[in-house]
Amino acid sequence: MSVYERTDIYDLLEDENKYSAVKKHWATILEGKQIHSLLDVSIGTGNMTLPLAELDVKLYGSDLSKEMLEKCAIKAKNRALEIDLRKSDFRELNLNFKETFDCVASTGNSLPHVTNEEITAVLEQMDAHIRKGGYLYYDMRNWDKILREKNRFYLYNPVFKNDIRINLTQVWDYNPDSSMTFHLLYTFEKENVIIQKEQFDELYFPVRQEILIHRLKQLGYKNIQILCHPAYFADADLDRVDWYCVIAQKPSC
Ligand SMILES: C[S@@+](CC[C@H](N)C(=O)[O-])C[C@H]1O[C@@H](n2cnc3c(N)ncnc32)[C@H](O)[C@@H]1O
Repeated sequence: MSVYERTDIYDLLEDENKYSAVKKHWATILEGKQIHSLLDVSIGTGNMTLPLAELDVKLYGSDLSKEMLEKCAIKAKNRALEIDLRKSDFRELNLNFKETFDCVASTGNSLPHVTNEEITAVLEQMDAHIRKGGYLYYDMRNWDKILREKNRFYLYNPVFKNDIRINLTQVWDYNPDSSMTFHLLYTFEKENVIIQKEQFDELYFPVRQEILIHRLKQLGYKNIQILCHPAYFADADLDRVDWYCVIAQKPSC
């Protein structure tokens, strides 16, 4: 089963501190840019996008998963934020969006759910919905580092809800066909005894940074900025960061 069908589990590690950090990240990205409308083509439950609505940006979101979109709508409503949500595969954006935006984004390491060839086509679809002089944005894991280090085990800091401790462990398989499977194991402990386990498998297609940057240049993008994610860690060594983002400007003519 995919964790994107279990939004109760997906959002367990989210809290107000993370929300504030995402807001600060976007404030850094937006500085000096005319971005007042933004479509996130992999919005999920909105963790990486909703704070934008508090930064004078009209928000649009799409996703393949209806469960994720439903949760996103609830979270937006709870914060009294306005958002236009549509179910859409990001490989078929043209079917669901006719308008153009100041920025089209894909957040949360979502593009590598499809193959490298498909991602480059998705960049073209995103481009088709960006106004002249607007911006294309994506963030993702540092796949170059992942492929270099080939680590398999990731332990996240536990979170505590009432008297339950929630642990997330990820085990990553490097498949023979060069895809990767992330195995997500959530354990729920009460008084040092595991009382619940939830396991999910997600398939990824690692994509090297250069492939996407090359395609952006072919599409004519200028001012291509590759930044640490979150972007307010300005001095980070980009080879070593776990997560990065790219914001690039479409030519004005
Ligand atoms: C890791 S989650 C990120 C969600 C959100 N951006 C966040 O950061 O929490 C990946 C998201 O990509 C979506 N997704 C996967 N393949 C997709 C596709 N082909 N088109 C649109 N969304 C897709 C999933 O449904 C999921 O919501």
